[in-house]
Amino acid sequence: MSFLKTKARSFFSKRTAAILSLMIFGVAVASSAFRESDQAMMREITFEKENKDSVESVKAFMDVYTVLMSPRCMNCHPAGDVPLQGDDSHLHAMGPKRGRDGKGVYAMKCTNCHQPTNTPGLHTPPGNPNWHLPPADMKMVFQGKTPHELAKQLVDKNQNGHKDTKQLLEHAHDSLVLAGWNPGEGRTLPPMSHKDFVKAWTTWIKKGAYAPAPTTN
Ligand code: HEC
Ligand code: HEC
Repeated sequence: MSFLKTKARSFFSKRTAAILSLMIFGVAVASSAFRESDQAMMREITFEKENKDSVESVKAFMDVYTVLMSPRCMNCHPAGDVPLQGDDSHLHAMGPKRGRDGKGVYAMKCTNCHQPTNTPGLHTPPGNPNWHLPPADMKMVFQGKTPHELAKQLVDKNQNGHKDTKQLLEHAHDSLVLAGWNPGEGRTLPPMSHKDFVKAWTTWIKKGAYAPAPTTN
């Protein structure tokens, strides 16, 4: 009997020891996991902090702005409903209208004249399979906007075509954006290379997409 009791006790204590060590092990694992996720979180915060930089961001946007306001871009982002033409951004000859979908109205559809590729020669229509203005319910106006206003507008989903950050970044490679660097004979190029534009655009957004102060013109 006493032999059995000893056995039971020793069994019990073995089990207790096993349970205790399991618990200690569990706590150790849990706390190390917690420490790791904590560290990951800290790393993320430092990364974010390192990444956001209002000075760098605004500086990059001022470069972006010179491109957006260049005739190759602004001519398709007019304040009114008629596209603009030429390096002086005068109203488009014969006044084709935006229309609801930005593709023109009635017999004056953009693609009647604007072919999928540039038409050779001077004063001929530049081409792109998707040549049109932003639609009437989301005009995406650049003309007349200050850097402050334009930066705010570009990141506002209700004004930028519902683009999130990823889509905005991708838009730098949109075929209508690229058209600016293949404008057809006799037209000037935007003030920097497409590569430098992508760099400035990306820096502006990744450093926090800050808008220049309202007074900056
Ligand atoms: C043929 C006309 C056309 C030209 C040229 C053009 N765009 Fe656009 N752009 C559009 C249309 C249409 C949209 C709306 C479609 C969309 O958002 O995908 C748009 C949208 C945009 C947007 C996103 C909307 C916003 O306001 O946030 C940006 C940014 C943009 N264009 C930049 C440029 C830049 C930079 C250039 C010149 C290098 C340029 N565009 C030249 C027609 C044009
Ligand atoms: C009747 C023909 C015709 C129609 C329709 C037409 N265009 Fe044009 N477009 C032209 C011609 C021609 C030019 C070149 C003019 C020049 O260089 O002197 C041109 C030039 C442009 C330019 C200037 C490009 C630049 O880089 O400066 C823009 C922007 C433009 N068209 C947008 C449109 C849009 C948007 C529509 C539809 C709403 C449209 N056009 C409809 C004939 C047309």
